[in-house]
Amino acid sequence: MVTIIGISGSLRTKSYNTALLRAAAGMMPEGVELIVYSIADIPLYSQDVEDELGIPKAVAEMKEVIAEADGILIATPEYNNSMPGVLKNAVDWLSRPPSDVRRVFGGKPVGIIGASPGRFGAILGQDSWLPVLHILGTQVWGGERLRVANAAAIFDENGAIADKNVEEQLRKYVSEFVQFAQSAIARSGLGAARSYTGVDS
Ligand code: FNR
Repeated sequence: MVTIIGISGSLRTKSYNTALLRAAAGMMPEGVELIVYSIADIPLYSQDVEDELGIPKAVAEMKEVIAEADGILIATPEYNNSMPGVLKNAVDWLSRPPSDVRRVFGGKPVGIIGASPGRFGAILGQDSWLPVLHILGTQVWGGERLRVANAAAIFDENGAIADKNVEEQLRKYVSEFVQFAQSAIARSGLGAARSYTGVDS
């Protein structure tokens, strides 16, 4: 079984981005599962906490989930033309200690999608992840983008996709990303996994 971890950058109960991930989970091909993993329990990063108490339990658990996964699908909102702080905070914790980054993220295939009630489908939020995912040594899927704009009209009250075009776009994205992840797994151990150049504290 190929396992993709879905991470939403929103804690909102009726989040469009979480809804997008749930819809993606229902489109996985045979032999592939997408598990939506919440960042709600990740505390605010503090280097004092890390130095004095070590890695919090919720962070350590999520690191293992990611380390064992075959890929990551991020659904990110855009906040002020960039990434949401809650998810950046989670990723910052997940990148500690630096000596563990390669094991957790190295070479990991990552897809980025996003939804916004605005006109641009969180594209700047999506793009803001690129340098972060680069320094972590992941392999970012560079295929056709998925920008879900005007999200209030795209999802119904239960969070299901009510728009045929967007449903088809998501289906295509999922199919292409899964193929990318599967071929990246076949090549695993190469390239990005060796490229982490983050500064050790
Ligand atoms: C937003 N929103 C927003 N939308 C956008 O398209 N571009 C932006 O720059 C911003 N900036 C922004 C800042 C802050 C602080 C908030 C709270 C919101 C709106 C945002 O897209 C909207 O709240 C989405 O519904 C958030 O995603 P979820 O929670 O539906 O997944």
